Amino acid sequence: MRYFYRYLSVPILHKYNALEILKGKSIVSLDLGLSEEEVKIAEEGVEIRGVFVEKQVLKKIAKDKQNHIFFVFEDGVKKALFFHDAVYKLRLVAPNTAPTLEINGIHMHRIKGITPWEDAKQKVNALNPQSGEKVLDICTGLGYTAIHTHRREAHVISIEKDKNILEMAELNPWSKELENIEIYLSNAFEFVKKLENESFDAIIHDPPREALARELYSRSFYRELYRILKKGGRLLHYAGEPKRRVTDFLFCTARRLEECGFKTRIIRDIKCVLAKK
Ligand SMILES: C[S@@+](CC[C@H](N)C(=O)[O-])C[C@H]1O[C@@H](n2cnc3c(N)ncnc32)[C@H](O)[C@@H]1O
Repeated sequence: MRYFYRYLSVPILHKYNALEILKGKSIVSLDLGLSEEEVKIAEEGVEIRGVFVEKQVLKKIAKDKQNHIFFVFEDGVKKALFFHDAVYKLRLVAPNTAPTLEINGIHMHRIKGITPWEDAKQKVNALNPQSGEKVLDICTGLGYTAIHTHRREAHVISIEKDKNILEMAELNPWSKELENIEIYLSNAFEFVKKLENESFDAIIHDPPREALARELYSRSFYRELYRILKKGGRLLHYAGEPKRRVTDFLFCTARRLEECGFKTRIIRDIKCVLAKK
């Protein structure tokens, strides 16, 4: 099913800008660093795009130790956190950069020594999509790999199976460019079976860790990816390096891809395998 993403521009507060406002700064970023705007500071609080936020609330936010993001909705301030079969949390990683999304405490981008935005950019750079190429982005998430690919003027088709994630992305300013991308709400394992032979120039496959999405690391899935790629087409597969594994997971992933016909190269610093048909 096609999913029509639309960005809902809701002001964002977090511990850094709440502290700035408490210190009297009236021009702040309310979209995680993408722009700045004016807020109206008063004795008892602050007016943000017509919504009054009390000083008490600002003080609480400024003391937050768990890297929450807070949305200023018309009916009040709410954490970017909800429970729906799992706990979903949009997580602040630094004051002025793209957040990551945590599901049950597991974050979906690398955040140690790198921002989620840069993490996605490095993956896309390794795939090196060209203008006009047709690229399949498997696992939309917050859309960062899809957006970086689209910025290179490729035609991107992206697949995400979890509507909750896309709804959270609709509130994330760094996901806004998903408005330009063809998104399907579907299980990628099933979705790829319906795609035509040799219909993509490149694929970026950025799944959750193997324990959470085993079928997306399976030979039967890889065979489908091989089938839908054009001759000479590239697959960039993030595989990670699961801590509990005694074997070299990237090496094993590359070997399984080779069994399905690909030629592979491991790019260890981004924990990916680049495979070619
Ligand atoms: C690591 S995140 C993707 C990050 C994304 N590429 C980005 O740049 O923000 C993995 C995503 O895969 C989704 N996912 C898991 N299993 C899936 C499946 N079978 N089909 C499609 N999406 C799936 C999860 O819901 C999650 O949003």
